[in-house]
Amino acid sequence: MLRNYLAGDVRVTYFWVQLRNYQTLVILLGLLSLHAPSNSATATDTVYPGNGLAGSSSKLVSNNSKFALGFFRMDNKSFNYATNPYTYLGIWFNKVPKLTPLWSANGESPVMDPASPELAIAGDGNLVILDQATRSVIWSTHAKTTTNDTVAVLQNNGNLVLRSSSNSSTVFWQSFDYPTDTFFAGAKIGWDKVTGLNRRLVSRKNLIDQAPGLYTGEIQKNGVGHLVWNSTVEIESTGLWNGQYFSSAPEMIGNTDNITTFEYVNNDKEVYFTWNLHDETAIVLSQLGVDGQGMVSLWIDKDWVVMYKQPVLQCDAYATCGQFTVCDEGENEGPICNCMKGFSVSSPRDWELGDRRDGCKRNTPLHCGRSRNTDKFYDVQKVMLPQDEMKIQAATSDEDDCSRVCLGNCSCTGYSYREGGCSVWHGKLTNVKKQQPDGNGETLYLRLAAKEVPGVPRKNSRIFRFGAAIIGASAAAVAALMILGLMMIWRRKGKLFTRTVGDAQVGIGITTFRYVDLQHATKNFSEKLGGGSFGSVFKGYLSDSLALAVKRLDGANQGEKQFRAEVSSVGIIQHINLVKLIGFCCQGDQRLLVYEYMPNSDWSCQRPGLPAHWLSGLHYTLRHQAREHTP
Ligand SMILES: *[C@@H]1O[C@H](CO)[C@@H](O)[C@H](O)[C@H]1NC(C)=O
Ligand SMILES: *[C@@H]1O[C@H](CO)[C@@H](O)[C@H](O)[C@H]1NC(C)=O
Ligand SMILES: *[C@@H]1O[C@H](CO)[C@@H](O)[C@H](O)[C@H]1NC(C)=O
Repeated sequence: MLRNYLAGDVRVTYFWVQLRNYQTLVILLGLLSLHAPSNSATATDTVYPGNGLAGSSSKLVSNNSKFALGFFRMDNKSFNYATNPYTYLGIWFNKVPKLTPLWSANGESPVMDPASPELAIAGDGNLVILDQATRSVIWSTHAKTTTNDTVAVLQNNGNLVLRSSSNSSTVFWQSFDYPTDTFFAGAKIGWDKVTGLNRRLVSRKNLIDQAPGLYTGEIQKNGVGHLVWNSTVEIESTGLWNGQYFSSAPEMIGNTDNITTFEYVNNDKEVYFTWNLHDETAIVLSQLGVDGQGMVSLWIDKDWVVMYKQPVLQCDAYATCGQFTVCDEGENEGPICNCMKGFSVSSPRDWELGDRRDGCKRNTPLHCGRSRNTDKFYDVQKVMLPQDEMKIQAATSDEDDCSRVCLGNCSCTGYSYREGGCSVWHGKLTNVKKQQPDGNGETLYLRLAAKEVPGVPRKNSRIFRFGAAIIGASAAAVAALMILGLMMIWRRKGKLFTRTVGDAQVGIGITTFRYVDLQHATKNFSEKLGGGSFGSVFKGYLSDSLALAVKRLDGANQGEKQFRAEVSSVGIIQHINLVKLIGFCCQGDQRLLVYEYMPNSDWSCQRPGLPAHWLSGLHYTLRHQAREHTP
């Protein structure tokens, strides 16, 4: 139904992508449940010598109740591979019921069943995880302590600090120096040039395993930010800092918001980037995901709402599906990552848990090297070809020549023949993406053993060269470092970051409305613009001249689903100039979405396009309205 409602607009793909990703995320997070950290009535924020945390029954809670530290385990009831024997020491948001690890101490050395862990201050003053039964050390802060009179404190910003008990300025170790996949507000990403400490973000291995994954976000010693895959492939760069912004992200200037700020420092002693959230009550998560996407989410009501993703499309995340896959983020409802014809998933367990590094493996070995080469080619149509793998422009006169060049080399796995050129690929094929509906793809001729290729004669493919070039360029344009992604939402022109309005929560980039105000703005929902099975759309005015379209969603479940999907897709919608979602209301049973009003739009069926310039004035006004509503 939602699909029909959106059909006809090529840009719906983006919406679907977001919806699908979001649902996946919700489903996965929903199924991962927290193992046991029960609320001990007397939560403290400090571990003292002789008074540690035992097993999974107790936790530290920061003084402001925002963060908790304890032992946790990601349970995976949903997955076919049932038992997860790993327990970690980690930090999570204390008030978020869905376990969302923000930091873990022992990702590389989990506590394995049946061992039962204990967190304690060791005789040398270091913080350690012990196996309760054997007293052996599983993990240690390994700090150069000058006293054994130390305490470990979970601070209000989520930083776990090991310090002298008598002098709080004498810090021996802190978790902010060893980040995992989460960029905490107040933490630094970058180098301490004196000690050589490099603080960088590292994605996790999969959805339950906290071991390091393949994506790294870091500032290099020269001050340039990079997103790196498998320590070797540089995916994105921020360019140099010019005093005001990274040269690849000029939109960083003009941030006049005093709720969030960022800071870049580069001197003799250190180079780092940091951000601050000046509203302690907002629960904002900035994370480098398992699949290579940076994500900024906000905890609203009962769920994480994804405010921003970078890159916007999962298929634009480098090697997100692994080798010999086709990444398909189109309108089809199937999975995003799919094995190529003649291949199957290398490691089904890892694949299911979101770790696709091993991609897919060949079902039947190639025949190459034997007396008579019987390998064939299979057309993988309408795809964007890999940009990154070894590619040779061979001098060939036609397509048959090109296929012969490939067949003549045993390591050649595929070729493509485009206007005037033959390209061949050797070894792994990664980053093959299904074309976007609004673009033209190309054909990849995939080399397979003869028996894997259906007996149909190969069709001659049309050549679409320019489409692919355009898609490539725009994909590159939307991709930037995750740490920049985080900032972009704050710097978007006319952004809003309002305090609580009514009983709704704080939002970034969008604002929250009280139901009575929307009732008022729409003159009690009197002027209907359109409607469908999702609900109805009404025209409203915030002031005499500023028009809104207010979509009221009907039907409890359907409404909730669409509501969350639309709110979560806000970053993407705004990115591509669809009609702009400027706010929402989530009060009691009421679910309303507030858009800017577009004349001549058919509100009953499509999401209209949008002249982008329209908005700054409106946003300005909204911001002031919102302020007035703030109690
Ligand atoms: C600290 O070290 C002293 C000796 O240097 C030792 O006597 C004492 O037991 C240690 N304290 C703890 C808590 O281990
Ligand atoms: C506390 O530690 C800091 C830093 O190590 C030091 O500068 C300061 O003198 C110490 N204060 C006391 C009272 O020992
Ligand atoms: C990552 O790099 C290592 C060493 O260069 C290599 O052995 C490994 O295969 C790479 N991983 C993937 C998934 O390609």
